[in-house]
Order: sequence, then C-alpha cells, then structure tokens
Amino acid sequence: MDIESIKAQIDADIKNVNSFQALEDFRTRYMGRKGAIAQLTATIPALPPQERGAFGQKVNALKTKLLSLVEEKQKSISSGSLETPKETVDITMPGIAQELGHLHPITQIINEICAIFIRMGFSVVEGPEVETEFNNFTGLNIPLEHPSRDAFDTFYLKGHEKLLLRSHTSPVQVRAMKSRRPPLAIVVPGRVYRPDAVDASHLFMFHQIEGFMVDKGIKFSDLKGILEVFAKGVFGEDISMRFRPHFFPFTEPSAEVDISCIICKGKGCSVCGQKGWLEILGSGMIHPNVFKHVGYNPKVYTGFAFGMGIERIAMLKYGINDIRAFFENDLRFLKQF
Ligand code: PHE
Repeated sequence: MDIESIKAQIDADIKNVNSFQALEDFRTRYMGRKGAIAQLTATIPALPPQERGAFGQKVNALKTKLLSLVEEKQKSISSGSLETPKETVDITMPGIAQELGHLHPITQIINEICAIFIRMGFSVVEGPEVETEFNNFTGLNIPLEHPSRDAFDTFYLKGHEKLLLRSHTSPVQVRAMKSRRPPLAIVVPGRVYRPDAVDASHLFMFHQIEGFMVDKGIKFSDLKGILEVFAKGVFGEDISMRFRPHFFPFTEPSAEVDISCIICKGKGCSVCGQKGWLEILGSGMIHPNVFKHVGYNPKVYTGFAFGMGIERIAMLKYGINDIRAFFENDLRFLKQF
C-alpha cells in the first residue's frame, strides 16, 4: 500500500468532515481496527528486515498526523466555527403522509336518515339545545305533574328556572310550527340531555331525530307509509314493522314502532330479548292541544310526529352493544365506520 497516496486521500477526506458523525467515520476509516493504519502495520512483518524500521516510522508519523487532525476537527466542530451546509432540505425524502379523518358514525347515520326523508320532501331544521320550559313541556301538552318535568329527569339551568337542556327534540315542533305555516314536512336532528345513570344503554347526552308533517287531511296511514320507507331504507327491505299502542302527551293516538329483529329475523334471540321485535321509535298523531299552543286550528289541520334515538338505531344497525363506545374517542372503534 502506498503511504503517499493514503496521505493525499486523508487530506482530501478531512476537508469534507463537518460533523461529529462524519469525524467518527473518518477516524474509523483510518484508525479503526480494520482501518488504513492497521492494514499498513499488518504488512510490516512481511517486509525485508532492513526496510521495516523506516516503514514503521512513516506509519507512526501518519498516525500522529491523523491524531492531530482529528483533535483539531473536534475543536472546530464543537466551537461551531464550521459552516453548516446551506441546503438542509432533502427533497428526495419521502413526505409525511397525513392521516385522513372521516365523519363520526353518529353524524354519518344522521346524514343517512335525513337523506331518506329529504328524498320524500322533508326539510331539515335545527333547534337550540337550551330550551324554554314552555317549548320542552307545556307547549307539548306535558302537564305540570308529569314525571319527566322533575329535576331528576331534566337538567334545569341554575338561576334560570324556565330554561333547561332539552330532554327531546320535540320542542322544535313548537318552534317550527310557530314560525311557519302548513304544509310542513320537517326532520330535526340534534342532541338531547337527560340525567340518566350511565350504563351500556344510557348516557346523559344522546341524539334524536324528530319528524313531523302537518297539513289538511294528514292521516295515520301517512305516518305508517313514511316510517316504512324510513325503516326499510335504514335496515333493509326484508324487515317487517308493527305499531304498538302507547302513550305520549303530545300525540293522540300514539304508537311505539318495532321492526322485526335484524339479528334473528323474528325468531327470538338475546338482542331482542326473545321477543323477535326491536323498538325503534315513538310516534303518533299530533295532539290538538299542541296545535292550539302554536295557533293552528285543530279542526283544519292534522299531522303526525315521531321521534327516535340515533345511537339506538346505530347500535341495532351495526350490532354495537355499548352506547359509550360512540363517545370514548377510541380510534379502533371509530375507524370501522
Ligand atoms: N319525544 C319523544 C321521546 O323523546 C318521542 C316522540 C316524538 C314520540 C314525537 C311521539 C312523537 O321519547
């Protein structure tokens, strides 16, 4: 190996060293276990004896030179006197991919349900989550002694007795009927609040969609037809429906609506509690007292109304068994939708 050309190589290499990492690479290249110095030293025993002394001295001189070069460089790097390269962006590096989000499953199902009603001519209307006691109860023919008006069942605002977090979306019936004239076909998605103890099927906040239609000559059969289009649109054409008589203060007659169990198709399973049916909403013909409160003549106008819990619909549709999953922000859950 030619010591002179190694020297030249060293002088060229050291000029390009401007970081500790590069200096370390340089040091190992020449002084490491397999570096140039080690290789030169290893050739000494093979030389004719009379040349060994002189060659050894040259190798030693080279070693000393390297040591001082390294030491010098180390000083200049740590004192920051070396110019850093101007271009610091490596445009050949792959970019950092942005993860794309998507709509929350509850928003998706709200959009899906509203789309079905929009196709049937309904408009989407929203109302405030802080409501008056009148719109949430009195205007809907819910009497003073009704248990749902109790503080155990409703969040009242401190210092504002007449204001509360709405316990259902029905108050938007009162708002919309007051501010518009029939014919009306409206759906209302939104949050509602009830101070329920939290468990797998209850939360203190959830979402509902209200729907109502008011005009001359609206009949119970219109309600049935509209709800059938809705239920088949969400759960599939092969479900059946039934209307069970029920009571709501703001509808008369009232009915709860069931669909045949989407898991067992009506045979009876753990999801439907062996009944073969799943309750999906409350409904009925709007009570004449509600019309009186909004200034409509109940002898002229009739209408139907219905209200459903969105989380419940989503849980049935997707087979989710804990309502809390929607609001825990666990991406493993949310990414599935
Ligand atoms: N507001 C009722 C509830 O929250 C649902 C409902 C709406 C029932 C409209 C009948 C008519 O339980």
